[in-house]
Amino acid sequence: MIFYFTGVGNSKWIAELLSKKLNEPVVSINDIIKSEVKSYEYTAKADERILLVFPIYSWGLPSPVCMFIERLQLSDFEDKKIYAVATCGNYAGLANKMLKDKLQERNLQLASFHTVAMPNCYITMKGFDIDSAEVAKEKINHAEARVDLIVNAIIEDRQDDTLYSKGSLAWLKTKIIYPSFMKYSNKTEFYATEACNHCGLCVKLCPMNNIVLKDGVPVWSEKCVQCLACIHRCPQRAIEYGKITQKKGRYYFKKEDGA
Ligand SMILES: Cc1cc2nc3c(=O)[nH]c(=O)nc-3n(C[C@H](O)[C@H](O)[C@H](O)COP(=O)(O)O)c2cc1C
Repeated sequence: MIFYFTGVGNSKWIAELLSKKLNEPVVSINDIIKSEVKSYEYTAKADERILLVFPIYSWGLPSPVCMFIERLQLSDFEDKKIYAVATCGNYAGLANKMLKDKLQERNLQLASFHTVAMPNCYITMKGFDIDSAEVAKEKINHAEARVDLIVNAIIEDRQDDTLYSKGSLAWLKTKIIYPSFMKYSNKTEFYATEACNHCGLCVKLCPMNNIVLKDGVPVWSEKCVQCLACIHRCPQRAIEYGKITQKKGRYYFKKEDGA
């Protein structure tokens, strides 16, 4: 089984590619978290592989992935090994170490952790923007070959460190910057502009049920996990984050952006 979390569709696409190649079905962590279940029971079949696929946030794990691991109740899962594949704009820092520790808390083991570079979607901080169309296209075009290599590593049950992009200053980024990202990420500055046509797509997409329509206008509370589905997927481009995003691009995964 492949459990995936996604904000703007990159990790969903990678999960679907892995699903075809490993012949394992996919389940959305977004749906599980959105349903607000306190515990998620899953009975693994014999010889089944369990994978987690998700984006890297601030060189660490998105909080819905941590929530999912905390709520996951696996029965008949002798091996207790979990394979991870993360998508990232470039680098994952020490997210592998973070996941290993998180799984250990639940008596589970990390079998391997590999990364795939995909178009960047982080736009809610100064200095960060989406990739140019050319860079995004190049990343999407390279991703499938990378997934093939990762599939081989998973089948052969080995960690291939050449397929994990850690980047520089990994300790600093994961141990110092990630905790500060986590501290402030839920206090959002999202708002809808007059271009909003009250379609409610943002409410539907939010995995945290953090957006409600008040008199037809979306209003955000303080449970945001920064998946950015709302701001990137708004069909009217009517969502902004303070003044930071006003001149920035929007992105969500479309296969045709690649080849
Ligand atoms: C809040 C946030 C933080 C991010 N931090 C990183 C990062 O530390 N390193 C990186 O390479 N990409 C980072 N990214 C980019 C995403 O990991 C990348 O675009 C990913 O493929 C998005 O996957 P998704 O479409 O499944 O949401 C970040 C994106 C967001 C929204």
